[in-house]
Amino acid sequence: MKSEIKVAIVGSGSSYTPELIEGILARAHDTLPITHISMFDVDRRRQGIMAGLTERMINAAGRKIKVDACDDLDRSLAGADFVITQIRVGGMEARHIDETVPLKYGVIGQETTGPGGMFKALRTIPVIVNIAKAVERVCPDAFILNYTNPSGIVTEAVLKHTRAKFIGLCAGIPAIQDEIRQRLAGTFGNLKTYCVGLNHVGFIHRILSDGRDVTRQAIDHLAEQDKRASEDNRDMARMDLARILGAIPIGYVNYFYHQREKIAKAKGQLTRAQQVMGIEKDVFLEAANPSLSRKPDALKRRGGEGYSEITFSFMKAILHNSGEELVASVTNNGAVDMIDNDASVELVCRVDNNGAVPLKTGEIPLAFRALVQSVKAYETLTVDAGMARSRRLALLAFTSNPLVLDIDIASKMLDEMLSAHNLEYVD
Ligand code: G6P
Repeated sequence: MKSEIKVAIVGSGSSYTPELIEGILARAHDTLPITHISMFDVDRRRQGIMAGLTERMINAAGRKIKVDACDDLDRSLAGADFVITQIRVGGMEARHIDETVPLKYGVIGQETTGPGGMFKALRTIPVIVNIAKAVERVCPDAFILNYTNPSGIVTEAVLKHTRAKFIGLCAGIPAIQDEIRQRLAGTFGNLKTYCVGLNHVGFIHRILSDGRDVTRQAIDHLAEQDKRASEDNRDMARMDLARILGAIPIGYVNYFYHQREKIAKAKGQLTRAQQVMGIEKDVFLEAANPSLSRKPDALKRRGGEGYSEITFSFMKAILHNSGEELVASVTNNGAVDMIDNDASVELVCRVDNNGAVPLKTGEIPLAFRALVQSVKAYETLTVDAGMARSRRLALLAFTSNPLVLDIDIASKMLDEMLSAHNLEYVD
């Protein structure tokens, strides 16, 4: 294993950066010998604040890690072993548009699912493909660990259009795996959980205890636990749905299964973009304080916890060539039946110094196969639309998304969103 590791963070002005740094500092140098962190962001103000806080956190921990904040992508990538991509093209202002315009058409606006997710993808695809091409040129052996949303679409775009070693990460399914392990620890021994689906359309469909399939009993047990819990326990509906599906879904599938309820709720609220803008204002205010040398308290309200844990599990599995089983978005390559081989899927993968190889997963249960396949068609068409800047392909993507379908609505909404984002798409 290399004794000196360089990590380049692209989008280092993100409010997620302090959690990442905290995670690096919490790990012993021999497990993860990170000696150089390079920070790159197009937003110089946020970049400067996060670089300052990073330096102070490292000094307070008494560690020797070189930090440089760089305004040139290629220089920032030079010599990197890992590149973490966490960009948000258009910032929270663009997210606010994604979350509000669809609502006018009776469709949910959300940053990764439905029309909002599609527009985030269309903005992001050309930028992330260029970053991956720079990695290919400057540090071709580096692994890109991606957190940029929508993670599955972004992964498919990069893996189809570059040769970069790109792995799509998300804390969503791992959080459910942890929850299952904790909640069932006293009842089932030696638990292993497997998922099938796409990023944010994922399902834990196999739960093994000592090698025996206990999925049905485990879901029943979790549903019973929830019944005994208080009335307002949000998990209750989730485990009821799990009983029907025969698998535990990620919360994001509620945008499909509880569509009307989600739309009704969204109408009466600040958008998530507005909420996050408020939180981030506080995060950056704290982070800019020269006497602060730890993660800002306001980050507790940000969400996306567990982010750095996942990143380091991948780095460790790659560096130590461990073959650990971890969840990632990767190219299907036949792991899931009836999904294109070159499309991205989110599955348990074996991770070693060659990267992440998905475990053969087979059929998607009929209970949610159609949902996964339609969303996959929408995602692949979105990649094609984003690369070709084609209105026709974007319209097809919209109509393949189960949240939209209606081509008359899709067409009007598409034009309004293209114009709101100043995107020029031709037929
Ligand atoms: C979860 C999702 C991520 C998302 C994060 C924050 O971890 O899996 O994809 O970025 O939450 O979401 P938010 O809506 O709070 O920005």
